[in-house]
Amino acid sequence: MSMFSGKVAIITGSAQGLGKAFSRVLLEQGGKVCISDVNQKVLEKTYEEFKSEFADNLISQPCDVTDKKQLTEVFRRTREIYGGVDLVVNNAGIMDESQWEKCIDVNIKGVIQGTKLGLEHLRKDKGGRGGLILNIASLTGIFPVNSAPVYAASKHGIVGYTRSLAVHPDVVKNGVRLVCLCPAFVDTDIIKLDDGSRVEGLELAQMMIDKYGIMSVDQVTEVFVKAIEDPNNNGDSIIITMKGANNMPIPRP
Ligand SMILES: NC(=O)c1ccc[n+]([C@@H]2O[C@H](COP(=O)([O-])OP(=O)(O)OC[C@H]3O[C@@H](n4cnc5c(N)ncnc54)[C@H](O)[C@@H]3O)[C@@H](O)[C@H]2O)c1
Repeated sequence: MSMFSGKVAIITGSAQGLGKAFSRVLLEQGGKVCISDVNQKVLEKTYEEFKSEFADNLISQPCDVTDKKQLTEVFRRTREIYGGVDLVVNNAGIMDESQWEKCIDVNIKGVIQGTKLGLEHLRKDKGGRGGLILNIASLTGIFPVNSAPVYAASKHGIVGYTRSLAVHPDVVKNGVRLVCLCPAFVDTDIIKLDDGSRVEGLELAQMMIDKYGIMSVDQVTEVFVKAIEDPNNNGDSIIITMKGANNMPIPRP
């Protein structure tokens, strides 16, 4: 029996891309998943696709992570239907330097709100059963990226927030683990322009893409599963590149 069998996950921004792939792999392992996204049309499509395969192991709940009420409802409904939560994946994110406030709202405020709600539902002193909060940062959460400084700042924020909570004694003693995934470029819509072409227009981004290459969604999903299975990675930022995964622990000054 797989390690995730019977367990319950909430994954934000899971209508497509990495979030969808993460949801699928957990469902395939016998997990129960609440998928949610701000894009209701694509969410509905993904729900229909999964529903035929995974039936009652699936809930779909539209949610904009910048809306506290909507995000709160995702957690409430999941717990009501499945009786608890074991894994929270704060995955929803955007990269749009022209709307920088929105980028901060979704990537930082959304992840912090999702983590706070996750803690409330996971911590043992509040009736939870412990578990993992996995925040999707980026390689740009650790290294600079000159083509997208606001995006990089937002991802640095996720890494800093996640690491800080991971060493909070209150969190540790309540059985909650906090980890960041930090992938380099992955082949999803976020690195494409509206017309489906890649961000080639941005010369600087292209230089980075040339240097790091573009990973498949499967390469990241493989690391995602290992991160869930590893009980000893609390506080780690897991760097994922073409060369593989590398757990970066919290640096000691
Ligand atoms: N693709 C990459 O190169 C790459 C690299 C590193 C990290 N990431 C991160 O991975 C995560 C997933 O991105 P992806 O690559 O699958 O891109 P994607 O654009 O395919 O998926 C992102 C999903 O998030 C949803 N979303 C956007 N704003 C939202 C909001 N306010 N509330 C709820 N959902 C919202 C979108 O509708 C979409 O379904 C993001 O956090 C992204 O920053 C991506």
